[in-house]
Amino acid sequence: MYTEQGVSVTTHWWRHAAIYQIYVRSFADGDGDGTGDLAGVRSRLPYLRELGVDALWFNPWYTSPMADGGYDVADYRDIDPLFGTLAEAELLITEAHGHGLRVLIDLVPNHCSDQHVWFRDALAAGPGSPERERFWFVPGRGADGELPPNDWTSYFGGSAWTRVTEADGTAGPWYLHMFAPEQPDLNWEHPEVRAEFEDVLRFWLDRGVDGFRIDVAHGLAKKPGLPDVGPDPDVTDLPYQDCDAVHDIYRSWRKILDTYDGDRTFVGEVWLPTPEQSARYLRPDELHSAFNFDFLCCAWDTDALRRVVEETFAGHAPVGAPPTWVLSNHDTIRHVTRYGREDTSFDMGDKRLLDPSDPVLGRRRARAAALLTLALPGGVYVYQGDELGLPEVQDLPDALLQDPTFVRSGGVDRGRDGCRVPLPWSGSGASLGFSPEPATAAPWLPQPADWSALSVAAQESDPDSFLSLYRAALALRRERLAVLPEALTWVEAGPGTLCFDRDGGFRCVVNASESAVALPEGADVLIASGPLADGELPPDTAAWLSL
Ligand code: GLC
Repeated sequence: MYTEQGVSVTTHWWRHAAIYQIYVRSFADGDGDGTGDLAGVRSRLPYLRELGVDALWFNPWYTSPMADGGYDVADYRDIDPLFGTLAEAELLITEAHGHGLRVLIDLVPNHCSDQHVWFRDALAAGPGSPERERFWFVPGRGADGELPPNDWTSYFGGSAWTRVTEADGTAGPWYLHMFAPEQPDLNWEHPEVRAEFEDVLRFWLDRGVDGFRIDVAHGLAKKPGLPDVGPDPDVTDLPYQDCDAVHDIYRSWRKILDTYDGDRTFVGEVWLPTPEQSARYLRPDELHSAFNFDFLCCAWDTDALRRVVEETFAGHAPVGAPPTWVLSNHDTIRHVTRYGREDTSFDMGDKRLLDPSDPVLGRRRARAAALLTLALPGGVYVYQGDELGLPEVQDLPDALLQDPTFVRSGGVDRGRDGCRVPLPWSGSGASLGFSPEPATAAPWLPQPADWSALSVAAQESDPDSFLSLYRAALALRRERLAVLPEALTWVEAGPGTLCFDRDGGFRCVVNASESAVALPEGADVLIASGPLADGELPPDTAAWLSL
C-alpha cells in the first residue's frame, strides 16, 4: 500500500478485487448440448464486464471423466471436449483481458483422476513398481490385507481407501482417495509430483492466466506413516490436512509465480478449524489470499458477523494478507436459501437436507449481505447466480443428481447439485437462454420454471432487481472503495445492527434486528438493499451512506 497526494492506494489488484466464479458447466452453453462451455463464456464476456467485476475464476475446465464435476483431472494441460479446446481457452484468456477482466483458473493438486495416465500406468505396472510411488498404494491390515490401511474417511463419506484388483485377479494393496475413489491422492513426497505441477503452473502462466485457485490447499501433505485418526481426534491436528510439509510446496510455487510479470496471484481453498492455521498459508512467501469460509458459514446475526470480521482482520494482520469475503460457492447452499432458514449458518457436513426456507426473507437478507460483503475492505467473491438472487434448487429428482456425495452418503447428503443449476439468461425458451435454440439436449440439470422471472433479461430492465443492485454496488465499490486503505472503524448503532465507516466519509449500515433503525441526519444514501421506511432502515436491509 502506498500513499499518493493523501489518497491511500493499494498496489495489488488482488487485494481489493471483485472476483466472479464461473462454474463452466452451468454458466452458458454455446453449442446447444445442454452443458455450459467456453464458447458460452466467450459470448457472455460483455455481461461480465458490465456487471463490474475485476476478475473471473474458472472451476476446473480440464479433460476429465467428470466423476466430481471436473475436480477429477485426467490431463492438466488440455480442456475437456465438453467445454471446448485449448485454443479456445487461449482465446478466452485474451478476450477476457480485452474486456479488462483477469483470469484465475482452478488447480487441483491433491488428487487426479483415476483416468490420468499416471494412475492407469500405476495400476498396470503392478505392486512395488515406481509408477505406484506417485500415489499412496499401501497394503491392507488384517490377515489377508482385507482391511483398509488406516481409519481415514473420505470427505465424501465412506473409507478413504479402495482396494486394487490386480491384472491377474488377485486382491492387491489399497490406494488413498480423500474424495471419491475416482480421485486418487497424489504422493507429494515424490519429486516427480512436485516437478509435474511446477511445469503445469508454467504451462498456464505462459498462456496468460493471472493466477490460480488452489483446490484443497490444506490437504496435499500427509503425516508420515499415515497414522490412524483415532476415536477422539484433535481437529487441529489431523494426519491428512495442514501438515507442515505443505508450506514448502507453496514456497516453491511462489518463486515460480514471482518470475512472471503482471501481478499474478494464488488464492487457496484453505478450509481449517482456526484462523491461525489458515494464516500460515498466507505468509509473504506462500499464497496471496484464501477464501474466508468462516464468513461463508456465519449465521445472519450481527454479533456473529462482527466477530468473524474482527477475527479475520486479526488473523490476517500478522502476515499482511488481505481479507476476502464470500457468501456462496459451488460446494455450498446458495445463501438466498440459507438466509431464509431458521438456522442461517452453514456447516459443510450437515445442512444439505430439505430444510424449509422462507424465500422472501432469504432474498431480503441476501441483498443486505451483498452490500455488506461489497463494502468490507479486501477481496470479494461472487458466485455465478448470486447476482441474480438464485436460490438453491432443493427438489431436483434423485435420478438426476450427479454429485458423488449423494451416492456415497447413501442419499443422506443431497449433494451440491442444487447450487449448480444452469443460469437463466432469458425469460423464455426451453433452457431460459442457457443454450442456443434449437438445442440438441436439455440443460444438464433442469431449471425451475419460475426462474424465468430471475433471468438476466428479466432483471436487466428492472431497477429494483438483484442484478441492478449488484451492478450499482460493484460500480460504487470500484469508484469509492477499491482505493481506500484496508481498514474500517466500527460505529455502535444499536443491537442487531452492524455499522462501520471507511475513509472518505463512507458508512455501511446493516440492520438485522426486528425493528427499523434511524439513519444519521444529513447523510446521503448512496445505495440501499431495499426501500427505506420513512427515512429509516427496515429490518434485514443494508445501506451505504456518504456522511
Ligand atoms: C474442493 C472443491 C470441490 C471438490 C473437492 C475435491 O473442495 O471445491 O468441488 O469436490 O475439492 O476436489
